[in-house]
Amino acid sequence: MCNPVIGTIEAVLYTTICVGTCLIGNFFQILSYAIYPFNKQLFNDINGFLASFVWKVLQFIFENIRHGKVTYSGDLLPYDESAIVLANHRSYIDFYLIHFVAMRKKQLPNLKYFLKDSLKFLPAFGWGMYFMKMIFVKRDWTSDKKKIEETFAQIKSLTTNVWIISYLEGSRITPEKVKASQEFSKKKGYPILENVLIPRTRGFIATLNTFREEKVKYIYDFTLVYGHEKRGYGVYPSMPRIFMGRIDNGYRFHIHVRRIPISSIPTEDEEITKWAVQLYKEKNDFLEEMKHNWTDNIDLIDPVMTPDDIKKDNSQEDLKNDNSQDDVKKEN
Ligand SMILES: *[C@@H]1O[C@H](CO)[C@@H](O)[C@H](O)[C@H]1NC(C)=O
Repeated sequence: MCNPVIGTIEAVLYTTICVGTCLIGNFFQILSYAIYPFNKQLFNDINGFLASFVWKVLQFIFENIRHGKVTYSGDLLPYDESAIVLANHRSYIDFYLIHFVAMRKKQLPNLKYFLKDSLKFLPAFGWGMYFMKMIFVKRDWTSDKKKIEETFAQIKSLTTNVWIISYLEGSRITPEKVKASQEFSKKKGYPILENVLIPRTRGFIATLNTFREEKVKYIYDFTLVYGHEKRGYGVYPSMPRIFMGRIDNGYRFHIHVRRIPISSIPTEDEEITKWAVQLYKEKNDFLEEMKHNWTDNIDLIDPVMTPDDIKKDNSQEDLKNDNSQDDVKKEN
């Protein structure tokens, strides 16, 4: 591990850089409010630019200074596409993995997270997300319905892309929550899952119905996985730990992505819930495999590539049996 004195100095330095960048962003965000009544698209563009700048700073520290080692598998994503992004929720640092992909697809300015309402009071970062018009939800979906519908209407009117990011589990996974979720599954006759919680679908159904075929044509299903070479599956560095020293000497991160056409998802509420439960069952099984074998049996691919690159490859290699291509397809 790192020298504790240097580690502490670095942690203070990087915290200052991140919070400072964010506060400067907040300052311009407040100014941008002058534009809001007149031009919501421009307001959105300015705030998207500011947010992506702050996130790039955070990402640069994670990937380039701390050497966070992220691997990728599954479907490739095009550069210019709106999506509803579903991710399992493991830790406070999940955003690094989501942004790892979003940055490479040039969508950092277009992220709209579903967030707990209390988060908007978090100094600097919470304020920034408030200005970003993120989708803030209190515990009770019904009491927020009207406000969320307003936010949805605004998002829909934007001409830019959007990635609507939702953790369907509702909160970060903990052993107690897994137990409660399993009890619930027993009653409902759902599969018993170990590595994710059963998804809550009320918000998802509303999101799907709002954007289906209108602005968004795809679901991106992200499975976020953490591990440490010695300490095992599920171990991840805390935020202060990331700021304190290199994280490439043990910590490892993986993201598995599926790109699912919304047209393939049922339209009835109950059927959508079943679909989501099945999706999370598959996530659960994927995580189980990684728990035992990490990426040994998984084809890693370069996330910068797009589906078009795969098509080109396929036509070039023609009849030759290329196993790696087959495996990418199998995931669909
Ligand atoms: C881990 O890999 C081995 C060998 O490929 C395989 O037999 C086993 O089923 C895998 N474990 C899980 C949990 O999938």
